[in-house]
Amino acid sequence: MLITAVAALALPPTGVLARAPATGSVPTPREDARADAWARATLARMSLEDKIALLHGRFLALVAPAQRPAGITVGAGYVAGNGGLGIPPQVATDASLGVSNLMDMRKGDVATVLPSGMAMAATWNPSLVREAGRMIGSQARAKGFNVMLAGGVNLVRDPRAGRNFEYLGEDPLLAGTLVAAQIEGIQSNAIIATIKHFALNNQETGRANASVELAETAMRESDLLAFQLGIEGGSPGAVMCAYNKIGGSYACENRFLLTDVLRRDWGYRGFVMSDWGAVHSTEALLAGLDQQQGEQLDKKRWLSTELLAGVKAGALPVAAVDTAARRVLRTMFVHGLVARPLATGPIDYQRDGAVSLRTAEEAIVLLKNEGDMLPFPATVKRIVVVGGHADIGVPAGGGSSQVTPVGGFAKVETVKDGAAAGFARKVWGGTPPLDALRRAFPTADVRFFDGSDPDAAAAAASNADVAVVFAEKFSTEAMDQPDLSLDGRQDALIDAVASANPRTVVVLETGNAVAMPWLAKTPAVVAAWYSGQRGGDAIAGVLAGSVNPSGRLPVTFPASTQQLPNPQLPGSGLPPPSKEDRATYGVNTNSPPFTIRYPEGADVGYRWFDRTAAAPLFAFGHGLSYASFRYDGLRVSGGRTATVAFRVTNTGSRTGADVPQVYATLPGKPRRLIGWSKPVLAPGESKVVRITADRRLLGTFDSTAHRWRIAHGPVGIEVARSATAPVLTGSAIIAEGTIKP
Ligand code: BGC
Repeated sequence: MLITAVAALALPPTGVLARAPATGSVPTPREDARADAWARATLARMSLEDKIALLHGRFLALVAPAQRPAGITVGAGYVAGNGGLGIPPQVATDASLGVSNLMDMRKGDVATVLPSGMAMAATWNPSLVREAGRMIGSQARAKGFNVMLAGGVNLVRDPRAGRNFEYLGEDPLLAGTLVAAQIEGIQSNAIIATIKHFALNNQETGRANASVELAETAMRESDLLAFQLGIEGGSPGAVMCAYNKIGGSYACENRFLLTDVLRRDWGYRGFVMSDWGAVHSTEALLAGLDQQQGEQLDKKRWLSTELLAGVKAGALPVAAVDTAARRVLRTMFVHGLVARPLATGPIDYQRDGAVSLRTAEEAIVLLKNEGDMLPFPATVKRIVVVGGHADIGVPAGGGSSQVTPVGGFAKVETVKDGAAAGFARKVWGGTPPLDALRRAFPTADVRFFDGSDPDAAAAAASNADVAVVFAEKFSTEAMDQPDLSLDGRQDALIDAVASANPRTVVVLETGNAVAMPWLAKTPAVVAAWYSGQRGGDAIAGVLAGSVNPSGRLPVTFPASTQQLPNPQLPGSGLPPPSKEDRATYGVNTNSPPFTIRYPEGADVGYRWFDRTAAAPLFAFGHGLSYASFRYDGLRVSGGRTATVAFRVTNTGSRTGADVPQVYATLPGKPRRLIGWSKPVLAPGESKVVRITADRRLLGTFDSTAHRWRIAHGPVGIEVARSATAPVLTGSAIIAEGTIKP
């Protein structure tokens, strides 16, 4: 995909989505050759024990303080180095939303929290996501880490899945492009990023005991494509294999995934690390696993003591140990870990907070704005703010990705029920929306009601100029959600307030798509997601109009669970994990196995809705602006691939960014996104957007011929405001062709 936006026809490309200058993430052939030479020479000086030491890591938080290595920052992973050989330790931290501090393993340590992955995807802005990655990578480095377990790109297949908030939406092109940008940003700090969880770990229920059954063609055109694009564009040093099985074989010992796809087909040269507690055998090494991480969570120390014994007994070839150790070594060299020693340093939290703020601002999706309800006029006198803990901060998702914000948490609740009990925490932090609203409307009377008494909130709202209800839904690793409803009795609260005052705005703070039974009663709805360190400021900016919303949905909001490919979440009827299982951080290994099927195959999200002609509540790609945009002048050409050009004009009275999307329709197939742009336009300004489709998006994967196959024939092209709102249509004749997998 190559996308540029050019100011009026004659000017040179400005490259809205074009790649930033090389960040050092993607190694040059020269760097590759040097890394190979160093790894070879280093390996030649290593004993079997030295080599095996590189192939397993410990979860330092589970190691007694007295036994921890000196001078090493405590995080999710630690692989010993070898001073004599010039090999630094690998010190790993979670995750994609900032430097996490699960269970306060580093007492009181804070970091800048980014908005959730879902929010970052809603920006549709790779440059911003790259900058966000650069920021969290620099904080990780400054805290003494050189590996970041960041780059979560499992596709959102079900809106109830607990970790959707960490991921980048339902479309492989959007998610793959953004994860590549995030990885590039992180790795610009001489740090290894880790694309994860490879693959098909799309729900938490049964994450360690379920097997996903999906045809190869469907995998290649969906989840694997997102990884492939992320790896091609971002060159992550590591791939983390997932907990689940695929086709009956655990992801971390799945030869098809780890060797055939990753290395043979994609030519991947980094290393594969396991998820924490995802290894089940020493033979995993032969299937393509290079490093067992979080080894205390597994039944055995497969890639340490077991491996050593196996090699010594002649049951496992030493060549396999060499291969894995070489991969780890060369990756450490390529990404600058060898050249740049571990060190701690200062962090400019103020500057980094501004990166989080920009991301949050661009992530907010204005879902509905009847009668231009938003932005509120500066003259508004009485504002009633209800619910969502808006007086103390914004919510965040739970699990390993949870970051302790600068300033600490405003509130912490331990999750007591369900699969994430004892592991996940419900937290609030960052800038409180209430304070930010008071700053944005200094002359208004802004009152807060926590929502515990809906009648009191409704009575106050009835006397206000406007009401804003903040509505939350908690999401966490290790646990899915039973339905699409907001937590507790918030639907009734919104209904009561909106019934009392028709000028009620709902701000959704969720990690997932949610149902909105009250939608007809409220003129405006804003999806703010988990908005991070400066979330309150971003939300207030949108409500006050100093920020013109430009987020677009990276997922479909269904009208009901009946529209989903699996109306019932797979495994949802099974008993919850036992206490013993939960002791391994939600790695639920003793529960009975079951199968997860995805009837949608490759047609994830909006493509399923297209295929089944179901009308979503809000479509993938949807999002409003305080400006309005016209599309015209479509030119489409075919041949080897489809090239699309069109003009976008801001016909409104405010500067704003638009996200025109281009979809292709192939005969007999649902539409699919082939590109987009995010031009910023002043009132009256036009830009020409050009998009060249990645040919794989115009083809199908032929698993027998082991090739992408592009059929000769017409491809429909739509320039659209969302997956269900085409504006311009055209077509192109595409030449027949095949592409290597
Ligand atoms: C999660 C990973 C995470 C790891 C280390 C696992 O439970 O699935 O995403 O990186 O823990 O904390």
